[in-house]
Amino acid sequence: MTSHSLRIVQRLAVAILLMIPFVLAAACGGGAPKASPEQIAAGEKVFMTTCATCHGKDAHGLPKLGKDLHANQFIHEKNDQELIDYVKVGRLATDPLNTTGVAMPPKGGNPALSETDIVNVVAYLRTLE
Ligand code: HEC
Repeated sequence: MTSHSLRIVQRLAVAILLMIPFVLAAACGGGAPKASPEQIAAGEKVFMTTCATCHGKDAHGLPKLGKDLHANQFIHEKNDQELIDYVKVGRLATDPLNTTGVAMPPKGGNPALSETDIVNVVAYLRTLE
């Protein structure tokens, strides 16, 4: 091998090594940015003020009000955007997908929730999985 092609091989090797952390991050996180501790704390506050009324402060659900959100299959199956959309519209009692006969109101019945509040509360829901 000439010293020129050796240098090219070395550069390629360095470039590949530099890419490894990014490839790993994309593979593990599905490319989605990870929620910060601040986001999760803000989401917990939203949960306690808006969602805990029905889902309980411990998020284990309350009879005839809201479901257990720990190790929850629905949350597990949905991506963040789908959960954000779900929280925005809720699930009427007449919705064929409703499982309890009790309605989940849009934005948990709190129209004052902002987009950021909902993004944060979804980050909090992820910590219950
Ligand atoms: C007025 C009561 C009430 C409030 C407040 C409420 N929920 Fe719900 N939620 C429900 C009910 C009832 C269901 C179950 C609907 C059904 O039977 O399918 C539900 C279902 C859910 C589900 C789907 C669980 C599953 O297994 O299908 C998620 C996720 C959820 N709620 C998140 C939230 C979040 C986040 C908030 C706060 C922003 C919130 N809820 C506020 C009543 C409520």
